[in-house]
Amino acid sequence: MSHPGQMWGGRFRGTLDPMFAEFQKSLPSDHVLAFADLETNLAWSEALAAAGVFTDAELDRVRTAIDALAEHWAEHGVPVEDPAEDVHSLVERELTDRIGDLGKRMHTGRSRNDQVATDLRLYLRERIHGLLDGITDLCASLVQKAEAHADAPMPGYTHLQRAQPITIGHHALAHVEALARDRERLVDAFHRMDRCPLGSGALAGTTLAIDRDALAQALGFTGGPTRNSLDATAARDHLCELAFASAMVMTHLSRLAEDYIFFASQEARFLAFGDAVSTGSSLMPQKRNPDAMELVRGKAGRVLGALMALLATVKGLPMAYNRDLQSDKETLLPALLETEACLMVAAMAVRNADFDVERCAEQAERGYLNATDLADLLVQHGVPFRDAHGIVGAAVNRAVELGVELQDLPAGEAKRLLPQLDVDLKTALAAGAILRRRDVIGGTAPDRVRDEVERWQILMGEWSSHEADGLEDHDADEDHAAGDDDGHDHD
Ligand code: ARG
Repeated sequence: MSHPGQMWGGRFRGTLDPMFAEFQKSLPSDHVLAFADLETNLAWSEALAAAGVFTDAELDRVRTAIDALAEHWAEHGVPVEDPAEDVHSLVERELTDRIGDLGKRMHTGRSRNDQVATDLRLYLRERIHGLLDGITDLCASLVQKAEAHADAPMPGYTHLQRAQPITIGHHALAHVEALARDRERLVDAFHRMDRCPLGSGALAGTTLAIDRDALAQALGFTGGPTRNSLDATAARDHLCELAFASAMVMTHLSRLAEDYIFFASQEARFLAFGDAVSTGSSLMPQKRNPDAMELVRGKAGRVLGALMALLATVKGLPMAYNRDLQSDKETLLPALLETEACLMVAAMAVRNADFDVERCAEQAERGYLNATDLADLLVQHGVPFRDAHGIVGAAVNRAVELGVELQDLPAGEAKRLLPQLDVDLKTALAAGAILRRRDVIGGTAPDRVRDEVERWQILMGEWSSHEADGLEDHDADEDHAAGDDDGHDHD
């Protein structure tokens, strides 16, 4: 394609090397910004009309054309295989095809630099909503698990060695805590990027009398306009922040996946995954593999990579816009979609995970998970904790030799090893009793777990409408309505 055919071709005479022409295109990654671009085009045209560049009649024609294009793309999809260099060139060409010079005049006082910065923020809003909904869905599945198994004992681990009994519900809610923090991080990131860069021009601002406050409001940016045109066009820290928030989500998903994969192993047999999320082996007929969770764990690597890639792209760039920034979308956008998909699959896997409550309870009584409680019991009988630790250590050794659990030590042995105690070890060291003793805020006592389930249920009721976070409930379709009456109802 020749330079003269490009939107920037004025001073060029020769043709662009065909290989480089392909190489420099961003349409394959930025076509997803098409509806956001229509939205910014409409808002900009309205601002141009207010500044006296367009007459009302011209604005009407622009609006109709944007409307028609939005409708066309909603029905037929946005072309990805197209000679246009990027989504902004594509939109400009399509509008110019429809309304001639008016389409070309829309770029007055504007640069693709402030345009892409604005499009991205609009589009990322949608992605954030998707991620938030994904987190809510997964948390709902986990809270349901917690409610169903609030008092069901299972072994708790540190160093993947049996440590103390916990309830299945307590374990589920531990993952909810982490995901809820991820949710907060996303909401926080949203508010930080909730400012409108449009009107910043290529780098220095625009010469037109644009009411940037009105523009920001029209596009639904509650934070108002950005305050420095260099920063507005050059900054991508909000993208890095989202990449981090997603990487953190994926890291948490990966840990959840790892737990459930282990629980599903023949070694643990704490849960079995349903057919909907399990696969078999082409060779070994007995296999039933936890692929859903494995894929989630695996994909975490790619999202973590996206964070590094983005930081590396931004690092070292001189103020202000540099073409390096074009790859931001190629790096971040697939990572966000991947994270969203992983949240859905993880939620599905949790819903399809059937805990073997009996086996979990039985295993919570095996492997000396009650040693700490035995030491605590000695402390209650006046033995200093450090001594109690030693005494119980010796008792565990003897129990291992005899091949029994502490609660099953023969009476004679128990008397000899623990002369300070005259309690029924079976009762005192039962998993249920151990759980009930952890009756503290944040503890694993079934009553506490039930309290937390209730707390999360209330909190999550607020999550389902995004209002509590200061995020309007944003229907993805609203962007497609770029040509509706006012084009942007963001209330
Ligand atoms: N496709 C470009 C990007 O995504 C749009 C901005 C182009 N600006 C420019 N000065 N070449 O970054």
